[in-house]
Amino acid sequence: MSQKLFAKDVTRRQFLNDLGKVGGTVAVFGAMESLGLLASTPAKAAGNKFPDEGDLSAIEKNGKKVIILGAGLAGMSAAYELTKSGYECTILEARERSGGRNWSIRGGTQSSEIDKDRQTSNFDDGLYLNAGPARIPQHHTTTMGYCRELGVKLEPFSNINEAAYLYNEGVGRMSGSRIRRREVRTDIRGYTSELLAKALDQDALDQPLTNEDQERLLSYLQQNGGLDDNLTYKGTSSRGYSTLPGVESGSHNDPFDFSALLESQYAMNFSGEYSINQQPMMFQPVGGMDQIPKAFEEKVGYMITFQAEVQEIRQTEDRCRVVYKKASGKTTEVEGDFCICTIPLPVLKDIPADFSKEMTEAVGAINYASTGKIGLQFKRRFWEEDDHIYGGITDTNQDITQIWYPSSDYLSQKGILVGYYNFGGSAEKFGNYSFKNREKYALEQGSKIHPQYFEDFENSFSVAWHKVKYNLGGWASYSQSDRDTSYQVLKKPDGRIYLAGEHISYYTGWMAGAFESMETVVEAIHNRVIENEPLTSRRSAEKQEALIG
Ligand code: ALA
Repeated sequence: MSQKLFAKDVTRRQFLNDLGKVGGTVAVFGAMESLGLLASTPAKAAGNKFPDEGDLSAIEKNGKKVIILGAGLAGMSAAYELTKSGYECTILEARERSGGRNWSIRGGTQSSEIDKDRQTSNFDDGLYLNAGPARIPQHHTTTMGYCRELGVKLEPFSNINEAAYLYNEGVGRMSGSRIRRREVRTDIRGYTSELLAKALDQDALDQPLTNEDQERLLSYLQQNGGLDDNLTYKGTSSRGYSTLPGVESGSHNDPFDFSALLESQYAMNFSGEYSINQQPMMFQPVGGMDQIPKAFEEKVGYMITFQAEVQEIRQTEDRCRVVYKKASGKTTEVEGDFCICTIPLPVLKDIPADFSKEMTEAVGAINYASTGKIGLQFKRRFWEEDDHIYGGITDTNQDITQIWYPSSDYLSQKGILVGYYNFGGSAEKFGNYSFKNREKYALEQGSKIHPQYFEDFENSFSVAWHKVKYNLGGWASYSQSDRDTSYQVLKKPDGRIYLAGEHISYYTGWMAGAFESMETVVEAIHNRVIENEPLTSRRSAEKQEALIG
């Protein structure tokens, strides 16, 4: 760091400003932390401890109070981080549970949807459905960081399993019969390699490639595509066996016809699974995704008021006030210096709030994804026993869209499949069915791929997120024009109210989005307090004075 920044006539405030210019907010954050005023979030620096339960007196309160709306991941992690830095937090949660969309359905779980009666899960003990988030990419550093910090055990999540199936209807010669992913992938790789290899052979690529490059590319294509000496693809063992090898060599079927394969559109499924957020490795918490909110709740649970339905969000120049309805039906209110609102936008738009006109419009402008899942409990893991599928996903162009096989408790007796995970029109269609009909159509469509369904099925539980009262959607679905306009408003504070949640990020639909937005908001509130807000506790005020000069 430049000595100049420490010149005697530079005030601490100037020092922080200059530091910000050189190193960005992270540097300012680090400096504040080292000056003892600020505890940073785990992604920024490790080692700041949340006080143990019963030792809350160890937290040096700074006299500022933050009202947090929503005990989902953004809300609870905000309380967790702010508490480390001396803020008093109170969390209002409309439901009887924490976690928001991070919700694992177990035996006894109940839910209702806006147009439906109560549904109760009959899943056996130890079995669960992750109705919301269900997979964590390894580069989601905030999510992985909190699992590390909070001691949430992870296990591999198989997002891609070559043994899983593809099954399409009404798209050509290959329709109507299930096909292993490995067969399609091997064939499409083989044929495209053959085409390119033969084009190379005909000097068609002389222009961009030297002779040496061409030779190297040719041997790559031969290996990658499994081509014979004539550069022709005739199938390889990568596509699987019709008779598995043992003492004898085993045998495999001929490849599919190339034209039929292209017509089937099966290979189109492979692009999504290689998107950056879905590449291997992926992870899940051992015992259900709700281990993450449970771990946060262990820390900040005492700050949460459950069954507190927000009625009004108010603010003046120097205070916030939130009116909420308690479980008893009585209305009450809470006051604070700032408000962090994690309420999903389709819900927030109907809550009276002292937002600017711009903010009100932005809140109302964003569409949310329609999406649904069903968990189907089976008395036998036929996908493991009969189909040799251990984890992974089958894709189909039926409305059920996907079937997920569990990535845990392999070889055990019973299991829960995600019988559909659908989006858009398919999710709306299934969402409109009764719970019973969702089950019926999930079984009907799924049984075309797994005829064992009817024999082994036990019970189901389904969720249509766009019909869940305190969500009204799966995740924010921004167009580029929304990003250019409304998003620019949503991500800035409106007076003393800050929005946080997956919708205030480019990781929409991911837990990492909730954490990233939380970090930005916590940091912004800190910076504002340090710079502009008189702190009420004597020691904090002294530190602040010393810091800003
Ligand atoms: N993150 C969500 C998923 O994994 C959308 O499907």
